[in-house]
Amino acid sequence: MTAIHPSILSADFANLATELSRIPSADAVHVDVMDNHFVPNLTLGLPVVKAIRAATSLPLDVHLMIDDADRWAPAYAELGSESVTFHVEAAARPVQVARDLRSHGARAAMAMKPGTPLEPHLSLLSELDMLLIMTVEPGFGGQSFMDEMLPKIAAARKASEDLGGRIAVQVDGGINRETIMRAAEAGADTFVAGSAVYSADDPEAAIAGLRRLAGC
Ligand code: DX5
Ligand code: ZN
Repeated sequence: MTAIHPSILSADFANLATELSRIPSADAVHVDVMDNHFVPNLTLGLPVVKAIRAATSLPLDVHLMIDDADRWAPAYAELGSESVTFHVEAAARPVQVARDLRSHGARAAMAMKPGTPLEPHLSLLSELDMLLIMTVEPGFGGQSFMDEMLPKIAAARKASEDLGGRIAVQVDGGINRETIMRAAEAGADTFVAGSAVYSADDPEAAIAGLRRLAGC
């Protein structure tokens, strides 16, 4: 099932409630949490994600680009996020983090940077509900999709199918009308799009266009 998750990183942070109301057909809102350590950029944290939770009825897909995921991730599940994604590079005990997330009622998701290989982490998959293959270096919106990630997306899809297809394969970074078909053909089913949605005059039309292309 194709899912489109607009990223509010490209939205107007001074008017988040209004910006959230512009994407009613989104399958979830992608919220990028950055700590200025795991990635060079700094965005928002728990108090703002709580406020976002209260401001929309859409499911929240929280993408944690922060160090010490073991310590901080569960609180994002506890506040009512539908899914919480931690980076494998930032977790000391990823299995425990995934179990903590699920025990707080969230889907557990794990992300990997472009340079992190999938194979050494395949044994973790049974603990997860979603795998995020980063298609840019995490930290900033508006970067170009890395075509060299297509084989990794395909490997993630195969690994998911080997486990019955239960695990969603998400891509994040540079997804737009030009790139989404390639990512979909490689096996992604869940698409984060920041600038492609929020830089459009009509975000709802942008979502519909992406959904149509991903379904091809
Ligand atoms: C980047 C973030 C993305 C970002 C994507 O590190 O994780 O979610 O918002 O932005 P676009 O879609 O513009 O590449
Ligand atoms: Zn993201």
